[in-house]
Order: sequence, then structure tokens, then C-alpha cells
Amino acid sequence: MNRKNFVVGIDVGTAEVRVGLGEPRPDGTLNIVGLGLSPSDGVRKGVIVDLDKTIESIASAIEEAERMAGFKIESAYVALKGLNIELINNRGVVAVTSEDREIRGEDLDRVMQAAKVVALPTDREIVDIIPREFIVDGFEGIRDPVGMLGVRLEVDAQVVTSLITSLHNLLRCVNRAGININGLVLQALANAEVSLSADEKELGVFLVDIGGGTTEVALFQNGKLEQLSVLPIGGDHITTDLAAGLRTNHQKAEELKKKYGKAMSSMAESEPKIEIKTVGSNELRLVSERELSSFIEPRMQEIFHIVREEMIKMGWQYLPPAGIVFRGGVSSMNGMLEMARLVFESDQARIADFDVIGIKNPIYSTVVGLLYYVQRQQPRMHIQERSKPIKKKGPGLWQRIKDWLTDIVD
Ligand SMILES: Nc1ncnc2c1ncn2[C@@H]1O[C@H](COP(=O)(O)OP(=O)(O)OP(=O)(O)O)[C@@H](O)[C@H]1O
Ligand SMILES: [Mg+2]
Repeated sequence: MNRKNFVVGIDVGTAEVRVGLGEPRPDGTLNIVGLGLSPSDGVRKGVIVDLDKTIESIASAIEEAERMAGFKIESAYVALKGLNIELINNRGVVAVTSEDREIRGEDLDRVMQAAKVVALPTDREIVDIIPREFIVDGFEGIRDPVGMLGVRLEVDAQVVTSLITSLHNLLRCVNRAGININGLVLQALANAEVSLSADEKELGVFLVDIGGGTTEVALFQNGKLEQLSVLPIGGDHITTDLAAGLRTNHQKAEELKKKYGKAMSSMAESEPKIEIKTVGSNELRLVSERELSSFIEPRMQEIFHIVREEMIKMGWQYLPPAGIVFRGGVSSMNGMLEMARLVFESDQARIADFDVIGIKNPIYSTVVGLLYYVQRQQPRMHIQERSKPIKKKGPGLWQRIKDWLTDIVD
């Protein structure tokens, strides 16, 4: 347990590892007292490929957050993301056991267990179960059935699964960096916490996170995460194209992309004024923003088209009523929104703004969203304590996740 119940979050990204440390306030908001950032060299396309480098990055981001907060971090919640995550919709049904037919915490626990029964390939494992709604005697749309009367309790849930190997690598890296794991939080849920309004989530909206190595497409509707897909494409591909096009190294291309890049070359200046050194020679030459952007535009277009195809696969030929919200590093690129409006044939497109009391840097938005998600989920984590158990009490859902984490980390 961290000092004074502080909540800590870790986001292991392809570009950076970020750590956030928040102190819950009585009004339900968080006071962010520590932040840490470290380049992440051991992650490709959201998957850990080098354990030692990743452990080092995590430890160094943790240290930075500790220095800022002035005390040691012992445990943290970890953002779960990447190509290996899948959601399966499933239902669980149980009979309410108490004589007075009042639904209690243990019924909730049993029904969640029942929803866990899915056929999985041997290389996958269940990481979490997210209840979407409960159904009591056929009445749908119930968010918390504890205390209600009923005979038959059903849950419509999402079972989050991951490839065992990539999950174990993530958990192992966090543990080896000296941190115990409190739980895992799906990145899309953390992101939605700070990037979407309740109305958008209710009406229907796509949240698209374009990162370094991956693009995450999440559909929210009726207040819930409905679908999720992670695509192996992101800003690193743009950098690689630019490096090849300009015949310069990756690091320089990355720097130029961020400084001068435009998603649409027609929006860029045509005057050649950017100095570039060609690889293998000392010769300097001048290129225009337009030439530079001409290497970015096709890849940016490709990313959007792949996202659109994915949405069509999910059953959305056109955008849902609240449209599309972009986030992730690539959404900082000038002109990306203009291009998105053309590709998605809609003006219902915006870039997520991020302004959580005192922090404006969107780099931390996943980790801060994660802290808010954990804070908001406290009631769910304490469902067991609120109910009055009549018989032997089984471990709660979060406890089981913790036990399971301990099992697989050992
Ligand atoms: N101003 C900018 N213009 C263009 N691209 C940018 C800008 N700022 C950041 N990027 C790009 O965004 C990408 C990193 O995004 P982000 O920080 O969201 O990734 P990540 O979360 O670490 O990665 P992933 O989600 O794939 O694991 C990099 O490719 C970076 O070059
Ligand atoms: Mg990311």
C-alpha cells in the first residue's frame, strides 16, 4: 500500500513510460502530486521486446515521480493495451440464493464468475471482466443490483483477454522495477475518462488513439465501451517514411516531423528553408515544409483508411452521432483533423483536449485517466463490503484479480 492511499498509475507506451501519482480529494477529484517520464526503448508496437530496457525505463520514470512527490512508491495500477488484447462479450446467469431474494455482493461475485466461462485458446488468459449491465428477472440496464429483489441475476459483461506471454512480460517488468501491481486497467477506459464527455459516451463515439506503434480504435455507446481494436500502425511508420524520403536518420526525421510536419502537404509552405544533412555525406541541403509533408501525407492517409476499414468491420459505415475523437501523440500533427474530416466524411471530429487541474501536457493523459478510472471504480471494488453477507464470503472480484496477478507473477 502506498502512503496515505495515494493512487499510482503506470503507462508503458511505445514512445515513453509515464507514471502518475494522485491523492484522492474528498470531492472525487485527484490532486496529482507526482509525474514521471522516461523514453521507452524496449517496446515495439505496444509489446515489450526487451525486458531489461523496459525495467530500466519503468524504474527511471518511477524515480522521477518519487522525487516530485517526496516519498517512495510501492504499488501501482498498470494500463493494459496493445495488439494482444481482445474483448469478448459474454453473459453470466445465476439464481439469487438468499431466502428473502435480496441480491447481495456474493450473488454479484457468482454471476461475474459465470460470465468468465468462455472458450479460450491455450495461449490466452482472462485479465479482467467489465460488467456492462446487470439484468434482474429480465429487466435490463441495471448498473448496481445489490440490494434489489430478484430471482434471476444476469450480467452482460466484457471479458478482457490477453496473450499470456506479453502480459507476463509486462507484469514481470513492473515487478522487477520494484513495484507491486494493484490491478490492470484497460487503456481505452482510462483514456475515455479524461477524453470523452458523458454525453458523447451515451450517444456513441469512436475514441481513436494514434500512438507511436499502435492505433487503438474504441467505440463507446450507451455509456459503455462496446468494441475495441488495436492496429499495428502509428507515428513511427510516418517517421520511417520521412527518414527514407529525406535520406536522413530516424532521430532527425522524428525531430523534423514534430517541428514542421503537416498531415496535408497543401497546407505547408513551399519555400525551401529546412536544412537537412543527407546520410553518408556532410552536404547540407534545403527542403520545404511542403516537400517534407509530402512524405507524411500518404502514410497519414493510410492510417485513417485502415481505421475507417476497421470501423466498417465493426458495423459502422458512417460515424456514430457523437463522431470521432482523436488522441495520442500523432493527433498533435498540424492538419490531421482537416484530413480526418475528409476521410471520415464528417465534421464531427475533434482532438481530445486535456486539462486536468494543473496538468496540460497530453503526454500524461492516459496515466491521469487511469488514476481517475481507479478513483471512480472504488464503489465496484468495495461491493463486498457494502453488502451484508449471510453465508461464507468468497473473495471479491478485485481480490481475485490480485490473487491471480500474484499467482502469475510468482
Ligand atoms: N507534434 C507532433 N507531431 C507529429 N507527431 C507527433 C507529435 N508529437 C508526438 N508525435 C508522435 O506520436 C507518437 C507517440 O505517441 P504516443 O506518445 O501517444 O505513443 P505511445 O503511447 O508511447 O505509443 P503506443 O500507444 O503505440 O504504445 C510518436 O510517433 C511521435 O513521433
Ligand atoms: Mg499510447
